[in-house]
Amino acid sequence: TGRITLTMIKPYAVKQHHVGAILSRIEKEGFHIRALKMTQLPAEKAEIFYEEHTGKSFFPDLIEFMSSGPVVVAILEKENAVDDFRKLIGNTDPAQAEEGTIRRTYAKDKTRNAIHGSDSDESAKRETRFFFSSMEEFPY
Ligand code: CMP
Repeated sequence: TGRITLTMIKPYAVKQHHVGAILSRIEKEGFHIRALKMTQLPAEKAEIFYEEHTGKSFFPDLIEFMSSGPVVVAILEKENAVDDFRKLIGNTDPAQAEEGTIRRTYAKDKTRNAIHGSDSDESAKRETRFFFSSMEEFPY
């Protein structure tokens, strides 16, 4: 994959004060933070961000949760960013995530799973433009 991915620290992890530890871990793993902000998604915006999951059983819970509080969003840069970041965060379900992954360490369950990572280069591109303007982004 390419050099860019998008991450979001989800509401429950923000409430639990895990922002600093999670960002620290991300930087230690060699990712450069190109952009960073805290924001809250209204439900209508969360529905657009997650539109590929429209109609799935977990969609209503996902939207309710993701709009329930602030999130910390970042654009990350590293070689092979999408794949390496997905390895670092681990399985969607923290019970299935490997020891040492961010989700194994900080996630509660499949919905409150601490963190998002883009699933492809195309998603990364769409998601970075969803949250940030080019003036808010700083290459390494
Ligand atoms: P994320 O990586 O942000 O992208 C889609 C989200 O949908 C995912 O994290 C999970 O929080 C949620 N999700 C995916 N599958 C399930 C599931 N089977 N049950 C509940 N939530 C899910």
